[in-house]
Amino acid sequence: MTALQHVRLGTYYVVPMASSDDFDEWRDHARRLLMADVPPDRVAWTEPGGSAGDLFSHGDRRLPVPDHDATPPRVSKRFMNIAKTVLLNSDPTRFSLLYRVLWRLQTKPRLIEDMADPDVRAMADMARAVRRDIHKMRAFVRFRVVEEEGGPNESKSEHYVAWFEPFHHILRHNAGFFTRRFANMRWSILTPRGSLHWDGETLREGPPATRADAPGGDPAEDLWRSYYASIFNPARLKVGAMLKEMPRKYWKNMPEAQLIPELIAGAQAREATMVEKGAIDMGERPETLAAIDKAIHACARCPIGELNNAAVMGEGPQDAQRFSGLMIVGEQPGDQEDLAGRPFVGPAGQLLDVHLAQVGIDRSAAYVTNTVKHFKYVQRGKRRLHQSPTAKEIDMCRWWVESERMIVQPRLVLAMGASAARGMLGRTVSITKARGAPIPLEDGSELWVTAHPSYLLRLDGAGREEQERLFRKDLAAVAARLTQLQAS
Ligand code: URA
Repeated sequence: MTALQHVRLGTYYVVPMASSDDFDEWRDHARRLLMADVPPDRVAWTEPGGSAGDLFSHGDRRLPVPDHDATPPRVSKRFMNIAKTVLLNSDPTRFSLLYRVLWRLQTKPRLIEDMADPDVRAMADMARAVRRDIHKMRAFVRFRVVEEEGGPNESKSEHYVAWFEPFHHILRHNAGFFTRRFANMRWSILTPRGSLHWDGETLREGPPATRADAPGGDPAEDLWRSYYASIFNPARLKVGAMLKEMPRKYWKNMPEAQLIPELIAGAQAREATMVEKGAIDMGERPETLAAIDKAIHACARCPIGELNNAAVMGEGPQDAQRFSGLMIVGEQPGDQEDLAGRPFVGPAGQLLDVHLAQVGIDRSAAYVTNTVKHFKYVQRGKRRLHQSPTAKEIDMCRWWVESERMIVQPRLVLAMGASAARGMLGRTVSITKARGAPIPLEDGSELWVTAHPSYLLRLDGAGREEQERLFRKDLAAVAARLTQLQAS
């Protein structure tokens, strides 16, 4: 009996996955099933340790032998890229969803572009949730230091331990990020899905952990104090408000309160370090653009937000069909943007529109936003004159543009000017040196930098012509790259 007949007689296959996040394993099984012409509704995929349910209780666990004459499966790079991310989702239906889409792609090769298709939409949703989880883990893992006794002739050593609860199977995927970022520390990241241990040279994987395995549960006073010191957020320090909430007379009864004078004294220095490291804790990331819009209107973390101005939110299409994958980032709203409540509508925006049109970039298909959300100005008579934001103000505000990027998930970000580049990277780069080539971002997207259109407006004569030429050249490179990315 050939594999094909096998199926016609109504055989079901059960595919017990050995790993929850091994794309190669899924791909090998899927290829085999596909080449033996096994339709998706005849296959039950199970998580490691899971069961296939009643319907498949008599399923065949030996996968069919592929038909030698079968044509090898057709798989686009785009499908493969999304599928690799989808596979990390914790939804148990992901294996079968991917196989169903793979099956359908054989007769409808452009299926993956059809965002109206429920399977394709489900894939996009799962991939988005995974990417968000990856980001969250990178942003929110907090290590606690644990002192370990050395051998008889060794001194104590420090081991950093973090507890994190990911929603999806992203631990292994994020391992490289943490080993690069904390290369010189000894650390462990414990999660309910498994653990990672790095000794400065080798990464080991370990079994799932519980919260009780990590420091910080039921702390003694000393631990409680060090915990408080580690979560103390100088960016939020408002001494007046703090004294109002917690008058001094109560301090003596609170273990952590003994730290307060010291923490206040050290706050400025710590804030500078945190800003430098991009580690300011701004609380929970907003999950929607509407939430960001609301939050930036209430934001007065830096003096700019206290001027007579209104926050300007980014804008762009919200649906995958109209969004080109491009996010354009400027410095801050100007006078006209502040009045209109929209980015890039004044002179800089008009110049930008001219150049975008010349290189064939459709602005209405891009998400356009700013690094700093409020207009910074000095009043001169009736006029409000633009002031550049300081590096510290950019670093305070970049939380919002980063949050927008996580939600919008562009494939390519164009940062115009040094402030926008700092907003995306958390460090200063030279536009002259960085322009013309992509800078990889940690989520797999690309950053391109160019000059700010306001800079062009301040020039004239040959200097202006030359800078406009370079600006257009950068935009043309972005247009070309975007087309490539859209085709992949
Ligand atoms: N300059 C910017 O950086 N952004 C705007 O929205 C307008 C001018």
